[in-house]
Amino acid sequence: MSAARQRKPQTAEKVAPKPAMRRPKPKSQTAGVVRIALIVLSGAAMVWFGTKLWPTVKTTFIAKPQVAKTPMVLPGMRFGMLSPSDRPSDVPKKLHLEADVEKRDEIREAFEWSYHAYEKCAFGQDELHPLSCGGSNLSHVGSIGYTVIDSLDSLLVMDFKDEYHRAAKWCRDHLDFDRDATFNTFETTIRVLGGLLAAHYLTSISNDPSIAADAPFYLERATDLGDRLLGAFETPSGIPYSGINLHTRSGVPDRDNNGLASLAEAATLQLELKYLSHLTGDMTYWRKAERVTAVIRQQVENDGIAPIFINPQNGQFVASEIRLGSRGDSYYEYLLKQYLQTARQETVYRDMYDEAMSGIKKLLVAKTKKSGLLFTQELKPARHPQSGENTWQIVPKQDHLVCFLGGSFILGVTEGGNKEDLDWKNLDERDTEDFMLGSGLVKTCVDTYNTATGLGAEIVMFYHHEDEESKTADWYIKPGHNLVDARNILRPETVESLFLAYRSTGDQKYRDWGWQIFQAFQKHCRVESGGYAIIKDVQILPAEQEDRMETFWLSETLKYLYLLFDDGDHIPLDTHVFNTEAHILPVFEPATLTAFSTL
Ligand SMILES: *[C@@H]1O[C@H](CO)[C@@H](O)[C@H](O)[C@H]1NC(C)=O
Repeated sequence: MSAARQRKPQTAEKVAPKPAMRRPKPKSQTAGVVRIALIVLSGAAMVWFGTKLWPTVKTTFIAKPQVAKTPMVLPGMRFGMLSPSDRPSDVPKKLHLEADVEKRDEIREAFEWSYHAYEKCAFGQDELHPLSCGGSNLSHVGSIGYTVIDSLDSLLVMDFKDEYHRAAKWCRDHLDFDRDATFNTFETTIRVLGGLLAAHYLTSISNDPSIAADAPFYLERATDLGDRLLGAFETPSGIPYSGINLHTRSGVPDRDNNGLASLAEAATLQLELKYLSHLTGDMTYWRKAERVTAVIRQQVENDGIAPIFINPQNGQFVASEIRLGSRGDSYYEYLLKQYLQTARQETVYRDMYDEAMSGIKKLLVAKTKKSGLLFTQELKPARHPQSGENTWQIVPKQDHLVCFLGGSFILGVTEGGNKEDLDWKNLDERDTEDFMLGSGLVKTCVDTYNTATGLGAEIVMFYHHEDEESKTADWYIKPGHNLVDARNILRPETVESLFLAYRSTGDQKYRDWGWQIFQAFQKHCRVESGGYAIIKDVQILPAEQEDRMETFWLSETLKYLYLLFDDGDHIPLDTHVFNTEAHILPVFEPATLTAFSTL
């Protein structure tokens, strides 16, 4: 899941003033900001990896030492030494993974506990408030089925027939997208459009005629919603506005961020729109989706990683953070998944993905001193206090959202477990690196659940090698009462990675870790009267619950946990892709390849 997850922006984002990264005379408009940025970056990269440059660089590139202190120094080559368990062991090509029925069914019960509370307290409304047993909508003009639709494919996967039929009936009787209010383009696409498409797909393959009969209805609803969303793409560049009025069908620029779009938001609509085109034969959605990636591709050169803000007016990146967490994350996720979705025929996405992953390895990956945990850090544009030069500040901060990346790296190696001649003992250099980095990042994410509650925090900071604390601890959670950092809002990314890692390797440790995490949710988030609630601070016992249950708890966290313990042949990864909201979509052969597909 990951997602732009701009979802709940984690700190008030301030966009750096646009001209900050510009040289007086940029070589070319398109190149502009990013190319310059990347030149500076490559310099910065040398800093991390080459200790010799250290003294000069320290003052040149780090603008605010009190925050960023100094760059990480990586021991050894690339990621330093990994433990033997991070290396791929000899894994059979065709894994058969048996269900752990007892544990799977306990997870199913947690879903039932959550969903029955929703039916009782808030049925049909967009969101459940579990402590007060109430509901609310995203806008004042009525529900768009946010929770119901986000839950449909989970209900089908976990075989909740009665609940499914009640939800389907609600959709037939009440679902209405003709709502005169602004909705978030990205969230509406991944949760609602994605949910409808997955419901269409799963009902269409159901053996139960009463369920299979619903398939055309979901496609009709998805097409209606898709048509309304198209208005967001009516911009000079084709980069969509962050908002959409579903009644007027016009895009709405993001006023909080100077009208800019987030990288992840703009680039995480593609699986949904392309599948909709595949189903309807109408290529309009596909073209809009592809155009976004083409605009981004024109600018992202060299290292393949990009700032989190892009301007819908001219399609140019704006000086802003480079990160794999909020507003960045699912751009990278969807590069790989687009390649997998269309049966690995659109090679442009695999190339873009590989370039981005090598940029991440080169510029963002670091390792802690104490335990050698791999993590990713962020880069923040900054002006040097003395020279006034534009530079990057390294911030060793990792959002929980980044935890999708470990599983994603492993999925990139196996390509769904179906990669021709995948020989685990003789992976090529790229795949070996990707696998080691992937499993290393999963391990780190699990480590960040080592808190008082056993749950991971929204944001974790890592210690620099020269911090005194780095000898005794790898990471910490920023203290502060009003920070969102210490919260756990039932996010899925770590268990998502555990699911992908387990399915790809069959290594039992991934189930063990998933079970530990599930038990911590049981202990601290379960609400006695029904539902599960987010908690305020993962380090404080007893945990203080807040009156919210995010829809992704139903669509993602519990679905990934359930599938982690289910039979490996249920929703196999070689024939399915999960959208960033964990909605299940099939791999398909594209009817035609576009000129862009195989660039
Ligand atoms: C949410 O919208 C539905 C209609 O779609 C309405 O019945 C319900 O009262 C709304 N909830 C709130 C809290 O306004």
